Amino acid sequence: MKFIEVETYAELSRLGADIIAEVIKSKDNPVLGLATGSSPVGIYENLVKKNKAGLLDFSKVVSVNLDEYLGLDGDHEQSYRYFMNDNLFNHVNIDKANTYVPNGKAEDIVAECEAYDKRLQDFGGSDIQLLGIGLDGHIGFNEPDDCFTAQTHVVELDPSTIEANARFFESKDMVPRKAVTMGMAGIMQSKKILIIANGAAKRDILMTAMYGKITPEVPASILQLHPDVTVIYSKN
Ligand code: GLP
Repeated sequence: MKFIEVETYAELSRLGADIIAEVIKSKDNPVLGLATGSSPVGIYENLVKKNKAGLLDFSKVVSVNLDEYLGLDGDHEQSYRYFMNDNLFNHVNIDKANTYVPNGKAEDIVAECEAYDKRLQDFGGSDIQLLGIGLDGHIGFNEPDDCFTAQTHVVELDPSTIEANARFFESKDMVPRKAVTMGMAGIMQSKKILIIANGAAKRDILMTAMYGKITPEVPASILQLHPDVTVIYSKN
């Protein structure tokens, strides 16, 4: 594992975007595993800048997102589909037909999950998986549990996650109680993992996940078993 500590969020974002840009440039048909949350916003800004400057082409890029709230339409402002369109896809030359986010409104959610995993398998996994980390150690929406779940699946959000994500909604009551998330097999089959965390509040959980016991109680700890992980932590 490569652990990079930087001073500022701006540095984290520049470095993270450079790593993803290298992957895009090195593949004919790059498959990006993408994440939402506040942490990746700066990386997306930098990727948009590179694209606008003519330095990075997204025309062959396929993206597969980690998760989505259950019950939110893609045009709901707090849905992760909306987030991705708004922060990245609307501003680069990616073909939206090649961008995948789980459908939180699928009539048959089990079939949606199976199809999501099948597609990822067909791509041979992603070339790089970008991850944030929740305060409870979640990745995607894989919450602390007594076992790791391999497949894409529906989860009940942890009260602490609902609390943390309430800042994006009008009130805590508006935060969906369930979500659909890529499972650990989908994440771990990525060829490269880039996990980012910013701010002192994330330091303890990041250290526990990266250097503590590997346990489903700290979902991100499974990343210790992956052969190519880069962690970028910024203090501010
Ligand atoms: C959300 C997302 C995660 C994300 C996490 C941390 O719940 N499902 O993928 O990593 O929260 O978010 P933030 O970066 O805003 O702290």
